[in-house]
Amino acid sequence: MSTLARCGVVGHPIAHSLSPEIHAAFAAQFGRALDYQRIDLAPERLAAGVQAFFAAGGTGLNITLPHKHAAARLADRLGPWAQRLDAVNMLTRETDGSLSGENVDGAALVRDLSERYRVDLRGHDVLVLGAGGAGRAAVWALLDAGARQITVVNRHPAGADALVDAIGMPDRVHSRYWQDLPEIGAFDLIINATSAGVLGEHLQLPFKLVTPRATCYDLSYGRAAADFMGWAHAAGARYAFDGLGMLVEGGAMAYARWFGETPDTEPVFAALRAGHPQA
Ligand code: ATR
Repeated sequence: MSTLARCGVVGHPIAHSLSPEIHAAFAAQFGRALDYQRIDLAPERLAAGVQAFFAAGGTGLNITLPHKHAAARLADRLGPWAQRLDAVNMLTRETDGSLSGENVDGAALVRDLSERYRVDLRGHDVLVLGAGGAGRAAVWALLDAGARQITVVNRHPAGADALVDAIGMPDRVHSRYWQDLPEIGAFDLIINATSAGVLGEHLQLPFKLVTPRATCYDLSYGRAAADFMGWAHAAGARYAFDGLGMLVEGGAMAYARWFGETPDTEPVFAALRAGHPQA
């Protein structure tokens, strides 16, 4: 048995996070002693709480809503994705005591889509709904993974325009207005990166966005994904997936970063899926 390592997930609220279950299952694969806690920190307590955690010998933290942007300020250095997105979803204490901030949200999405669901992203024309933190991570990662064209639609158009301008590849990534959705054609891959489902709000989307071979994917999971998944099925999408696999893959990337061990995600995903059926 290894000595006890301490990790955790910081958010607000955090009570329903599945990360402790995920990391306990990974640690069990390697016989590693791991104390992984949910840590609820209100925004004004984030900096002090994170500092106290690492001062007490913590190894790493996952960072979730609403702290991803603010936590980037707490790192001594940022990885390339964290820099690009100005947001971190994990902090790691290095051996010299400094803190590294990284963001694997986009990489986790791409791994889930391409490895678990065998979606070949190269050459796809993709529609991304939402241009907040999750939407930005998704668009950059899909572009990197070889998507041919990405159309970004955001309820407030300024968000989509800012993202498209920041990317600066008008031949591959462009924005359209939400009210134009009925006229923008059909897509083989549609990603819901809005927080509408998490907020319990209904997304009004036309069926004709969906091709008969389309894959629809919601970055959230469980009840939060149900509205979009129901729409995808009703619209005739070939596949509709929620983001549970992305959560597990992101967790595995964090675990590998902290402990240098690559977990087998499949049994962990299967066990979580059994307890959290897809809508
Ligand atoms: P996250 O980190 O989950 O992306 P965020 O940065 O707050 O959270 O972004 C939320 C995204 O969901 C935004 O794109 C938001 O659209 P606006 O920028 O127009 O606010 C989108 N969103 C939230 N509720 C929505 C709704 N009911 N309909 C459409 N889009 C919605």
